[in-house]
Amino acid sequence: MARWNGAHVRAHAPQLAELLADTVDGGASVGFLAPLARAEAAAWWRERADATAAGRLAVWAAVDDSGRVTGTVSLAHPDKPNSRHRAELVKLMVHRTARGRGLGRLLLATAEEAAAAAGVTLLHLDTETGSPAEHLYRAAGWTRAGVIPDYALSPAGELRPTTLYYKRLAE
Ligand SMILES: CC(C)(COP(=O)(O)OP(=O)(O)OC[C@H]1O[C@@H](n2cnc3c(N)ncnc32)[C@H](O)[C@@H]1OP(=O)(O)O)[C@@H](O)C(=O)NCCC(=O)NCCS
Repeated sequence: MARWNGAHVRAHAPQLAELLADTVDGGASVGFLAPLARAEAAAWWRERADATAAGRLAVWAAVDDSGRVTGTVSLAHPDKPNSRHRAELVKLMVHRTARGRGLGRLLLATAEEAAAAAGVTLLHLDTETGSPAEHLYRAAGWTRAGVIPDYALSPAGELRPTTLYYKRLAE
């Protein structure tokens, strides 16, 4: 597990794209419709590299022995002067072949610890209502704030609700 700077994210855009496409192919609602072309996914990650280099995004990734990215998570830091105490947890993804072995929990804990160390006191996120990720967030002490119906299209193109969560971090 390592935190990646902008150059790392850019250099690993193809591997990150493979993980993103696998996640979308698996039916998870992470902002894209299926099937997601690898080129589109890689271009999206290169934009994230720019945001990372600019300090608006913090990215962590886990890589296996063959150089494949097996999991990632990011924190998006708002640039508004009144919001520097909070961050949004985004794009927590574990490759389907690496799930169920604690990597998701480790990625989440890593991002939470780094956020607390950086002085962030409030995290928030949204996740498709009923997704397996909800179990993970609740087990990690996140609080369910509510549900927004028809929030986003699933990868298959159907409108689905999202559940908002937040977690206060110790100061
Ligand atoms: C959610 C996700 C990151 C979990 O990754 P993972 O590495 O499989 O998770 P872990 O092995 O660390 O498991 C963490 C907990 O979630 C539970 N869990 C994982 N997958 C689950 C599933 N399909 N159904 C129910 N519980 C599940 C585990 O049992 C574990 O619970 P425990 O702590 O009580 O034992 C992974 O399934 C994923 O990438 N999903 C698609 C993307 C997604 O939905 N991301 C969230 C977007 S906000």
